[in-house]
Amino acid sequence: MKHKLLRALGALAFPCLVSVMSSAQSAPAHYTFPPADLMRIGAYYYPEAWPEAQWRRDMAYMKILGMEFVHMGEFAWAFLEPTEGNFDFAWLDKNIALAAEQGLKVVLCTPTPTPPIWLTQKYPDTLMVDAAGRRQAHGTRQHACWNSDAYLVRVTKIVNELGRRYGKDARVWGWQLDNELTHYGKEPCFCDHCQREFQAWLEKKYQTIAALNRDWGNSFWSQMYQRFDQIRLPNPAEYPAQFNPHHMLDSQRWFAEDIADYMRFQTGILRKYCGHNQWITTNHIHNFPSVNPALTARDFDIVTWTLYPVHGNANEGPLGYRLGSSATLTFAADFMRSLNGQAGIMELQPGQVNWGEVNPQPYPGAVRLWIMRAFAAGQKFVCTYRYRQPLSGAELYHYGLVGPDGVTPTTGGEQYSQAAREIARLRAVAQPGAPLPEKLAARRAAILYSYDNRWDLDNHKQNKAWDTYGHLLKYHSALKRAGAPVDVITEDKDFSAYKILVAPAYQLLDDKLVARWKTFVEAGGHLILSCRTGHKDRRGFLWEGPWAKPILDLIGARIKFYDTLPAPHTGKVKTNDGAEHTWNTWAEVLESDNTAITARYADHYYAGGFAANWRTLGKGTVTYIGVDTQDGTLEAQLVREVVGRTGDRTAESFPEGFCVDFRDGLWIATNYTEKTVTAPIPSGAKLILGTRDVPIAGVTVWQE
Ligand code: GAL
Repeated sequence: MKHKLLRALGALAFPCLVSVMSSAQSAPAHYTFPPADLMRIGAYYYPEAWPEAQWRRDMAYMKILGMEFVHMGEFAWAFLEPTEGNFDFAWLDKNIALAAEQGLKVVLCTPTPTPPIWLTQKYPDTLMVDAAGRRQAHGTRQHACWNSDAYLVRVTKIVNELGRRYGKDARVWGWQLDNELTHYGKEPCFCDHCQREFQAWLEKKYQTIAALNRDWGNSFWSQMYQRFDQIRLPNPAEYPAQFNPHHMLDSQRWFAEDIADYMRFQTGILRKYCGHNQWITTNHIHNFPSVNPALTARDFDIVTWTLYPVHGNANEGPLGYRLGSSATLTFAADFMRSLNGQAGIMELQPGQVNWGEVNPQPYPGAVRLWIMRAFAAGQKFVCTYRYRQPLSGAELYHYGLVGPDGVTPTTGGEQYSQAAREIARLRAVAQPGAPLPEKLAARRAAILYSYDNRWDLDNHKQNKAWDTYGHLLKYHSALKRAGAPVDVITEDKDFSAYKILVAPAYQLLDDKLVARWKTFVEAGGHLILSCRTGHKDRRGFLWEGPWAKPILDLIGARIKFYDTLPAPHTGKVKTNDGAEHTWNTWAEVLESDNTAITARYADHYYAGGFAANWRTLGKGTVTYIGVDTQDGTLEAQLVREVVGRTGDRTAESFPEGFCVDFRDGLWIATNYTEKTVTAPIPSGAKLILGTRDVPIAGVTVWQE
């Protein structure tokens, strides 16, 4: 679309690209992070915000703390191009040289989240328009519209300038495009450019307006359109009644693809200069529902994300507000890594942040725990946000690795330093690329995750307490508690690499996907489907036929009806061992003739009705869990039973928040619980870090 057009224009404006392009063609297919490095540790630094006299000292101290790379420039447009077309790289050149003097690798960024005032003033339509029709003002960040031509022309220039200057610089390790590309919850932009882009996207998808009217169910409420240019982005300020869900779903798909296309546009410019000799990524907010990292995973060499575990949020367990959520960190790491095989944490909090409603101190040792859990989950680097505590500006009170004096390490800084030393020790004993030990390979699992499903479930929850992400986390945690290695995968992946495949609440599907699941099971795989799976087709229409028609043969059951309860009402469901679990968001009552029933409802007018079952099919099994329990205990129990069905008698029963992972020949236990937990270290194993009894926020590493 528009971005592609500008790609062509960019090449015209910069004829030197032709020669760089031909040399870049010989570059390898992807930048590969050397396995022996295990995981690198670095920090954000803003030279533009500190006196030049302190730059050398700061770089030297970063090195002393054990940092291996420094990240710069994502908000520096006003310093890189102080007036239109006049570029100043002298300050950045000096900092790159100072970093190199210390042996620090450099990560550079495109500064597009913060356009300078000359740009937004001269080209006011570069500013986004919110739902109320207000053009956003200059200042703060992410207020630019990446569909504005004027903005894209200036982005093309600055990215070309950066690429030309640093794209072949061996001191520059890699690139981050933009930063947390969103409008921080104000998306989408409702300006005319965006409305037109949405219309063009719809026209490309449906070709004819009749097809759109059919696939949006527009016969209801006289919503029939005559032309694509009559359609607007769904905006709560413009409609009195509820949205058409198919219109909404397509607008979410468009927005995510539009972001991906814009990222490809920037990638295309840089790639011409650096090929894959430097890596390129963007920095995703780890669980921001409107941005789908899967869409750009193939364009980037590594998928990276931001992680802020503690900001006054109530996570699992009594200490969760200080330790953060083991479930979200682990799920996000397993998802980002599975996208293209290389992932890293671009921002990790070093201590208190300043943007939560409450900003508590993390638990002593929590910062190191996060770093080591990221390591255990296969990340290639962890970068901390930020090196210095700011003395002014929007992030006052935000911790850094060093405090307000610019030199004294904070508690978080000390923990970063400790983790950096520990990773260096692990490099000496690791076996990079070692295959999964047999017992882990036997229970290798995947969770199937789709943004389409998430959007559609969230658009129409049927019970406001329904939590799609929370539902996914229950299954992920259940697998981790059983000690399974887990990838969080999208549909383009090969299922046959796994022994267990879980598709939680996989609401939108088609017969092709069901056939792939069947093949997986017949060949010996163990499939788990949960409530709300298969209720709709890919457009978001219910099936004409029995409820969840396409999956009924596979699960060997029928779904009579579902129930959801308003708080404070709850329901009980019992497993065969008599254990009772509580639910209130979603319960499907099943009918089944020839399958094994594993849970029954214990109350309400359908007491005795079936809630979960399983059956064999070919060499494998299919398990259906039709209820969403409040704390995931039923899910944990039934998932563990499935691990047992793989023939694996050694499935673990770790407490929620205690994980044991295997990476590069190392076993790593990390403890997010509020108690000491004993790690399952076999006799004869070699303890490398920590103790067999892993304290709260503790980390233990061993080799078997
Ligand atoms: C991140 C953001 C950073 C910084 C940080 C503060 O979400 O990407 O630029 O603002 O939060 O904690």
